Amino acid sequence: MVLNDPIHVHGQEWWRHAVTYQIYPRSFADGNGDGVGDVPGITSRLPYLRDLGVDAVWISPSYTSPQKDHGYDVADYFDIDPLFGTLGDADELLERAHELGLKVIVDLVPNHTSSDHAWFQAALAAGPGSPERARYLFRDSEDGPPNNWMSVFGGPAWTQVEDGQWYLHLFDSSQPDLDWRNPEVGDMFVDVLRFWLDRGADGFRVDVAHGLLKEESLRDQVVEHGKTASSDARDLADVPLVERTERDEPMWDQPEVHDVYRRWHEVLSKYDGDRMLVAEAWTQSPESMARYIREDEMSQAFNFAWLLAPWSASEFTEVITGTLAATEAVHGSPTWVLSNHDVDRHVSRYGGGATGLARAKAATLVMLALPGSAYLYQGEELGLEQVDVAPEFRQDPFWLRTGEPGRDGCRVPIPWSGDEPPFGFGPTAGQPWIPQPTEWAALTVAAQEGDPGSTLSFYRAALAARRTFATTSGDEIEMLDLGADVVAFRRDAVTVVLNCGAEPVDLPAGEVLMASGAVGATLPADTAVWLQ
Ligand code: GLC
Repeated sequence: MVLNDPIHVHGQEWWRHAVTYQIYPRSFADGNGDGVGDVPGITSRLPYLRDLGVDAVWISPSYTSPQKDHGYDVADYFDIDPLFGTLGDADELLERAHELGLKVIVDLVPNHTSSDHAWFQAALAAGPGSPERARYLFRDSEDGPPNNWMSVFGGPAWTQVEDGQWYLHLFDSSQPDLDWRNPEVGDMFVDVLRFWLDRGADGFRVDVAHGLLKEESLRDQVVEHGKTASSDARDLADVPLVERTERDEPMWDQPEVHDVYRRWHEVLSKYDGDRMLVAEAWTQSPESMARYIREDEMSQAFNFAWLLAPWSASEFTEVITGTLAATEAVHGSPTWVLSNHDVDRHVSRYGGGATGLARAKAATLVMLALPGSAYLYQGEELGLEQVDVAPEFRQDPFWLRTGEPGRDGCRVPIPWSGDEPPFGFGPTAGQPWIPQPTEWAALTVAAQEGDPGSTLSFYRAALAARRTFATTSGDEIEMLDLGADVVAFRRDAVTVVLNCGAEPVDLPAGEVLMASGAVGATLPADTAVWLQ
């Protein structure tokens, strides 16, 4: 195993400025030709990621799992699912990544297990009142579910078992929530952390980090008159920032959850190489997000406010200033993210087609210039759009529970090469688990690699340019007022300008370091630039 850098300098940990690339294993690269991506597939493509210019990879779960939520339903935290490979394959991936200078962030799923997990099976067998049931949230209730909570995937958050008790699942019924007030649960996860740290993991992305502890009473959610109970902050996407009011969330973001991360901080601090934790916490405000990255807790939290912001200069500006103020208040480092495996791809969110792509590249360029670290989602460097997956291929539990399209459309396998599906996704010509659009022939890695005008070339150039200034320019920025439709700031010697309006805007003086589109004396609509 390759040793990580043993020198720890507070404030200079690798993750503070890292660009991390998210891999969704079943859709990244298929090593064995069964139509589903796997761990050897990932290892074979690591040189591509090194050449792209990222610093780290975060790999969505590949543990043993019945795949009801594609691995976010873990049946064994200490093994790899045969669908994806073996523990030996995971060791090889870690070793190869480290040889290439890439850090590896493992996905950890502590809020719930799979219903196939030995603990849940034991809980069902042991019956009401048993210590086995006490690892989950089983409750009695005579007339319907014990409270009004809704699953994030639709429908009630409770399912009844044969003997009449109900168990809580904030997600699918195959994902029972653990009771984090039971010390056995915390102890098991410390073992999980150490297992993967010992194998060389550089950090953990913590799934549903804001959900582990529920308000102890499990009381009803107070719902505004005329509205239905809702699940989490993702539902806020359609509400402009200024109109958002705090809502009652007894299932999320409880103060006691922070004790868990203080304990994990201690566990990680015993290892060399600045191991890290990044929270997936859909909290309601920058301040509540920042509580997860206080100095004795996690290293980072995904900044979903940036991803939820619509195409609007004032909203982007508010997110930037709000994020920096909140993270500075806790001496933390900000992160920026536009896409992941749970949301519509940002080219499509910004309108799709040429406009969507221009905006996506512009927002990316702004994100890569901001202080802190950035997260990319596989395929965004190819400019991929959300795919309208035919109903017979949809597998997302959200679709199965609600009948709404769900998240399969951002999880379509990556097109690597060739003129027709599966575009080099696997070694055989068989169809991947979701069919790829035939138009992706023009968007394969091979098609874009040699083309200086391609989205892939843009990402490579931006990541290379970022290396030379974003990691050394300090964390201070000064916002500039260049008009209502413009986001503008100066960071050290670089001025960043984004035009969200319909008309070109005048640019301040400076040499163009990087641009997301053609730039002359003025900055066209839907374009961003770095000036020096
Ligand atoms: C997180 C994951 C998502 C998963 C859910 C339940 O939000 O990102 O993909 O479905 O947790 O684990």
